[in-house]
Amino acid sequence: MSMISRRTFVSSAAAIGATAGAIALAGCSGGSSSGSASASSASASASVETASQSQSGSASSQPATDLSKSVVVFFSRAGENYDVGVIDEGNTSIVAHSIAGKVVSDVFEIVPEEEYPFGYDDCYARAKSEQNSNARPAISDTFDSFDDYDTVYLGYPIWHSDLPMIMLTFIESKDWTGKKVMPFCTHGDSGLCGTDQHIKSLCKGADVKEGLAIKGSDAQAFGMDVDKAINTWLAKVRS
Ligand SMILES: Cc1cc2nc3c(=O)[nH]c(=O)nc-3n(C[C@H](O)[C@H](O)[C@H](O)COP(=O)(O)O)c2cc1C
Repeated sequence: MSMISRRTFVSSAAAIGATAGAIALAGCSGGSSSGSASASSASASASVETASQSQSGSASSQPATDLSKSVVVFFSRAGENYDVGVIDEGNTSIVAHSIAGKVVSDVFEIVPEEEYPFGYDDCYARAKSEQNSNARPAISDTFDSFDDYDTVYLGYPIWHSDLPMIMLTFIESKDWTGKKVMPFCTHGDSGLCGTDQHIKSLCKGADVKEGLAIKGSDAQAFGMDVDKAINTWLAKVRS
């Protein structure tokens, strides 16, 4: 599988070995998946990575035709994860930066105030507890310039067959009226799990497009199949 160059170096997680696959992932039904190819960025003023920063070294294989101001907002976690071992950059972050390079958009990373555990099992347990208690984990930066953007590419990992609760913290803190929202996720094997529909119900007044789902291990390997899945999805949701 040929490799696509991208902005951030990612260590060879596969070589380290997947130690985190022991816990079965929750399945789900009803999730549509348009792309089944199955860095920490920033910090208030430094939190938004501008388009020129996200462009450097990325593969911009698709010309930007969308003249609206767009931003890629994502949550992702490095460390030990399902099916990929220990990774330096989260799976969703890789897809987020690829999208940002292709559509020439700014990037905002949702960074939790309290970092999630490095270990998969510990993170799995905390995420489950947050879901059970309907928590809204705090985000370290409020992204005050959010209103300047009219197109939002919204990325996240599937956690327990749904959005990580911190995505709800972010979504509920913003006014989505009139925005175009393009959801994308990475996952262990479950696809979108209906999260694009969940986002539709949360982002009141937004035009929420069909979601993209990329398997996390595929995002880490980032071959031609993933690149193509992203391009195909972008062509569809931007038309
Ligand atoms: C807490 C937790 C819960 C997860 N739950 C699911 C799940 O229900 N279904 C699934 O397919 N993958 C699940 N996964 C796997 C992640 O969705 C997958 O590894 C994803 O690519 C991680 O993205 P990230 O590296 O950007 O955080 C889970 C992973 C974690 C850490």
